[in-house]
Amino acid sequence: MKNIINYFTAIAILVFVFSFSACYYDNVERLNPRVVCDSTGTITYTGAIKSIIDNNCTYCHSGNTPSGGISLDTYLGVKNEAVTGKLYNSITWNNTPSPMPKNGNKIDDCSIIKIKKWIDTSYPQ
Ligand code: HEC
Repeated sequence: MKNIINYFTAIAILVFVFSFSACYYDNVERLNPRVVCDSTGTITYTGAIKSIIDNNCTYCHSGNTPSGGISLDTYLGVKNEAVTGKLYNSITWNNTPSPMPKNGNKIDDCSIIKIKKWIDTSYPQ
């Protein structure tokens, strides 16, 4: 009888331990997106914005005949669209007839947060 009680106690302890480790992994997953998006400090064109635009936009918006006549392969080109509000509207798919990247998926939230901060802080180069 004592052995059976010990057996159940051992199982109870194991279940207890595993339920805690499950909680631990849940929390790590939920925290990760926040940890990954680091928009602290000054967001500059060369430090952050250029790579976002290069990865998602210059495929169409560069060269001799850029889409929509809009070149996004230089600081001034990107700034010109930012000043009019078209850059932010195009990537947030708000108030625009042309959601960008055209026919693609919305760029990730962290990139949008960085572009917003870059615009709000007057486009640091
Ligand atoms: C697959 C090609 C393609 C990609 C990739 C692309 N664009 Fe465009 N973009 C276009 C075309 C074509 C137009 C002209 C308007 C239209 O056809 O919708 C345009 C127009 C625009 C406009 C002007 C919209 C307006 O309201 O006049 C902006 C701003 C813009 N793009 C920004 C971006 C940004 C920022 C990215 C990257 C996140 C991007 N585009 C990615 C093809 C593209």
